[in-house]
Amino acid sequence: MVINKETIVTDDNKLIREKSKAVPLPLSDEHREILKSLYEYVYNSTIEEIATKEGLQPAVGIAAIQIGKPLKMLAVVLKDEEGKEVCRYALANPKILSHSIENAYLKSGEGCLSVPAEHQGYVYRHARIKIKAYDLFEDKEIIIKAKGYLAIVLQHEMDHFNGTLYYDHINKDNPFYEDPDAICIE
Ligand code: NI
Repeated sequence: MVINKETIVTDDNKLIREKSKAVPLPLSDEHREILKSLYEYVYNSTIEEIATKEGLQPAVGIAAIQIGKPLKMLAVVLKDEEGKEVCRYALANPKILSHSIENAYLKSGEGCLSVPAEHQGYVYRHARIKIKAYDLFEDKEIIIKAKGYLAIVLQHEMDHFNGTLYYDHINKDNPFYEDPDAICIE
């Protein structure tokens, strides 16, 4: 499956607002392939040589709706400064089991493959979450306890299942409102 700048669904397409459905487990071969493609996109997107050649926009995560599939699947890849993968997930049917009361936000704001325009402002999300999901790499249901940047990214991707985009969360009157009780992630 080819995923690149041309095939990513952007927010001028109402499909991006569609609600995603859970996928049956065990995963079908078709769903497994989609999930694998999502992971590969994210992994390759931050390798400059491949990204330039294949027209990939750098990303840390992607949800299936962004390639036009309203299915509850997502991939997240975090790398260190040397480009070494430090965390990878290819999840089906992730569900938040519990979350902190405390919120967190990214100092630099969020971005999204499906949102070409810049929308400045803070996006508040749960600082810590506990998720249950099927993971392609483990090939079983796992529990993820996430905090910090990873927690933010996972919530951003899961928002796509509801057709929600990051800028929906930005305070319209005061986009850079600083909640003193929330953790600021630099
Ligand atoms: Ni996004």
